[in-house]
Amino acid sequence: MKSFDRRTFVKKSLTLSALSLGANKSRAEQQVRVLLPVMICSRGRKWGERVLQPAWQKWLTSQNMLDAVETGANVVEQDPDDNSVGYGGLPNEEGKVTLDASIMKGPGHRCGSVAALENIVHASSVARLVMERTDHIMLVGKDAYRFARAHGFKKENLLTEKSRIEWLRWKETLSERDDWLPADHDTSRNNERITGTINVLGIDDQGNVFGITTTSGLAYKIPGRVGDSPIIGAGLYLDNTVGAAGATGRGEEVIRTCGSFLIVEKMRDGMSPQQACEYALKRIAQVNTDIDFNVKYIAINKKGQIGCAQFKPIKGPICSAISSKGMQYINGKQVKI
Ligand code: GLY
Repeated sequence: MKSFDRRTFVKKSLTLSALSLGANKSRAEQQVRVLLPVMICSRGRKWGERVLQPAWQKWLTSQNMLDAVETGANVVEQDPDDNSVGYGGLPNEEGKVTLDASIMKGPGHRCGSVAALENIVHASSVARLVMERTDHIMLVGKDAYRFARAHGFKKENLLTEKSRIEWLRWKETLSERDDWLPADHDTSRNNERITGTINVLGIDDQGNVFGITTTSGLAYKIPGRVGDSPIIGAGLYLDNTVGAAGATGRGEEVIRTCGSFLIVEKMRDGMSPQQACEYALKRIAQVNTDIDFNVKYIAINKKGQIGCAQFKPIKGPICSAISSKGMQYINGKQVKI
């Protein structure tokens, strides 16, 4: 792998609590648990609240968990403050913003996805239409765009001025052997390759499981590159008898280890969500000698147990949950290799 340097509702009433499995167990073995219904997302405080509050409101008013996870995903997709998802996402190496998204619904084991979608803000909503209004699972590129337009989505420019300027700076400081020059005052290089992404997962009061992953993908990617987010089993997977998992971070590593599928299958075999997330990260480490990227996994099972883990050091909550008792923030665990 190349270094990044280069290039009320209470039907079944719920208690929200962080449960420890035992007073003398280490923090690593603690298992966060909430009672159903519940929604989680792969962000800490700021985005956790922004995403999950309206998503939960949607659940309360509609009693439809698929609508609720979509509402949550749509919040980030339309917010220019986030440069890794939807409008305002960082573009590919040619300066075009292209989006990947997937959606899954436990009942019927249904799924849909879009990849390399341009000029449409709500990629996750298009993925939902692929799931609900076609007999296919994945649409890509210009044809995904045409499908979205046929369903009434507006054509929009997804590249904000802020993201254009960041992209231009990346291009100008990439190499001294091309003809692009940075501004005189700009002496630093912009080597950061953002792989933000968001997963929103939910389990309703009947125990049905739903999930979305949505992203603008790896910043400055080669045009045509598709990450893990729209790949069922990689960036998102769920099983209505087990639970759900989602990935963020370096998509190539998640694809080649079938990360989310692996987590759900390990939960089926009896691992807690926390154990399964850590297991899947260790699997990545088995096929990489040099972990110079981040991958983060979040997972939830049907008991309402939540897991989250990543390679990067943990500086605060990396996952948020909401239920009838309000928000909860989960620090998760760093898997050190
Ligand atoms: N996980 C997002 C991507 O690699 O595209």
